[in-house]
Amino acid sequence: MLASAGVAAADVQVVGGERASIAANPWIVHLTDERGAQFCGGTIVAPTKVLTAAHCALGRSPRSLRVVAGREDRQDREAGVSVVPESIWIHRQYVSADQGEDVAVLTLPGELPYQPLPFADETDGALYQPGTPLRALGWGRTSENGRTSRFLMQATLPVLPDDFCANTYPQFVHTDMFCAGYEGGNVDTCQGDSGGPIVAEGKLVGITSWGEGCARRNKPGVYVRIPRYAKELRSVVGSPQPAVVEP
Ligand code: ARG
Repeated sequence: MLASAGVAAADVQVVGGERASIAANPWIVHLTDERGAQFCGGTIVAPTKVLTAAHCALGRSPRSLRVVAGREDRQDREAGVSVVPESIWIHRQYVSADQGEDVAVLTLPGELPYQPLPFADETDGALYQPGTPLRALGWGRTSENGRTSRFLMQATLPVLPDDFCANTYPQFVHTDMFCAGYEGGNVDTCQGDSGGPIVAEGKLVGITSWGEGCARRNKPGVYVRIPRYAKELRSVVGSPQPAVVEP
């Protein structure tokens, strides 16, 4: 999670990311391969379900994946858990991140001991108004060509108007995606943050999906617009069970 795309030393009063704690964000996870190399983020949305990006899961077998939860410092092997998922669901229409449907759900063999994060639904349109301050989190790169982060980072990224995103990215589909960040760049998500959460008001608002470079002027990050997929996600993730009423 980023910082600056070639910002001169004199400009560095705003740096992109700051440290975030796992205690305050217990639902964030990172994904690694079997050798422990981190490549994406994810969000615990139910005790056995982790939401991530389709492009993070495509072409991987469950056995080659690890979901690491409860670990803020990637090097702290004592903290949290590392779990091999049981199965992977990828949106049926997914082709590539910039064509939308960049959603996947990993099912775990047992319940994680961390609080899940609810995801936004059809009633949450107000969260996507331009200017709404969202918070993105991850262990991704801290500059466009830099290294991924040892520690969990976060940055505040306001929702940008859809017409701004459509102008800068011809493939932008406003029903399926939204952009967040600053027209001037400098603060952004980056490689390794994909699949991870962007949140507001205690809800998952988006999934980090794509962008041109990182933190570049006029090239904000693009995120999955969760309500568009809420119905499908409820069927894959399962909604909280309603009380059983006996006839
Ligand atoms: N696709 C990237 C990943 O796999 C995320 C890129 C986000 N880019 C951006 N400029 N915000 O981690």
